Amino acid sequence: MTNKLTRYQAPHPPSKLVLDQPWALLANLSPTAFMQEYWHKRPLLVRGAIPSFGIAKQAGAALSSPISAQTLFEYACDGHSEARLVKAKPWQLIPGPFQKKGIPPLTQKDWTLLVQGVEVRHPAAAAVLSWFRFIPDARLDDLMISIAGLGGGVGPHVDSYDVFLIQMEGRRRWRISGQTDLSLRANLPLKILARFQPEQDWILEPGDLLYLPPNIAHEGIALDAGCQTWSVGFRAPTYRELMAEGLWRLAESLENRPDLDTIYADPKQEASTTPALLPQHLEHEILRRLQSVSLEQSPEFMNGITAYLSEPKPHALFTPPAKILSPNAFWAALQTRTLVPNPQTRMLQRGEVIFCNGEDVSQGQAALIQKAWLALAHDRAFTLGRTENSSKNKSLKKLSQFQSRMQATSPPSSHHSLYEAYCSGWLDLKKTAANPFVS
Ligand code: SIN
Ligand code: CO
Repeated sequence: MTNKLTRYQAPHPPSKLVLDQPWALLANLSPTAFMQEYWHKRPLLVRGAIPSFGIAKQAGAALSSPISAQTLFEYACDGHSEARLVKAKPWQLIPGPFQKKGIPPLTQKDWTLLVQGVEVRHPAAAAVLSWFRFIPDARLDDLMISIAGLGGGVGPHVDSYDVFLIQMEGRRRWRISGQTDLSLRANLPLKILARFQPEQDWILEPGDLLYLPPNIAHEGIALDAGCQTWSVGFRAPTYRELMAEGLWRLAESLENRPDLDTIYADPKQEASTTPALLPQHLEHEILRRLQSVSLEQSPEFMNGITAYLSEPKPHALFTPPAKILSPNAFWAALQTRTLVPNPQTRMLQRGEVIFCNGEDVSQGQAALIQKAWLALAHDRAFTLGRTENSSKNKSLKKLSQFQSRMQATSPPSSHHSLYEAYCSGWLDLKKTAANPFVS
């Protein structure tokens, strides 16, 4: 029996996910069935969710995580990723970034290092996150990796969001509980349950997965040094947060309402014996105008919320391309190269509007540019040439007319939203069309 150690190559899924067929990742449920029966409802343990690990083991080989411990330590030290170190006995929470010597050696016990947003750092993490794009992007948050020494963990706790916990290296013991007593231990730097009463207990091997909906008490303890758990986490905004974001953007949009520039007038105001009282007439006039900005009818409100949900993570840092192509050269490049969103870029569609990194990028753009944004948002890739090759319909006929126009006429202006996004480092030009996440 050989004991060859090979890194697992996380495959990128097809751009159109098959939703009604069984997936090993979901215990042979289809995404449709998983969403109906488990999502946001109950836990699911999946043995062999990534079959490659079991297949390799049977063949006498062992697969290791696609990302080495060393690389994770670098991410935790370089200041470009949010990272935390949790030490047990006693509990300590140390925020990153770290000095190399601040991270315990793998041979030391009872610590775990958590690195957030690894999908923007490593293509394998981006690939794994994209397996879960059967769940709307507005809900998907990031991929966090924990790496631990023997006995490491963050203690028994609950999360307010759904999570898929994928065991990528070493073993981790997970215990979970549906308990309703969620009171916390006092005076600790972490939220640790005061009375954890585990109901189920499993040892997860590499390739296994545990899905947990919000508010299920859980505790994971590393059984091997270098244990890696990859957590696909989801956003759990409150309605208050969402509505507040929509409302302030709606307030900002009042700038575009010249009718509201009218100054309040009260020629019928009578002499008053209660000068401190806000005039009824003032209230009446404001409420009359408020009806014209009703939340349901103001696209700015819901669009504002969509814009907010498309904002990049606070840690995101976009760098323009080293050598920016001219608008003309950019369009020429689109014939042969693939435009992909930078891994930090977030995009959402609402109706006809496309938001990219918090901005409406479709407003006032040519139909073909909007089409490009749609492809970028949904397929996370756009190639002018490739789209033309598969052209069957009239919109794609328009596309080839557009190409000829682009070649024949003066360069498109630089305020074009696709070109601007490329110049800002929000979109990257890749040589191949195959995999938007592999550089
Ligand atoms: C971990 O990976 O150790 C913690 C993940 C979690 O409990 O949500
Ligand atoms: Co948790």
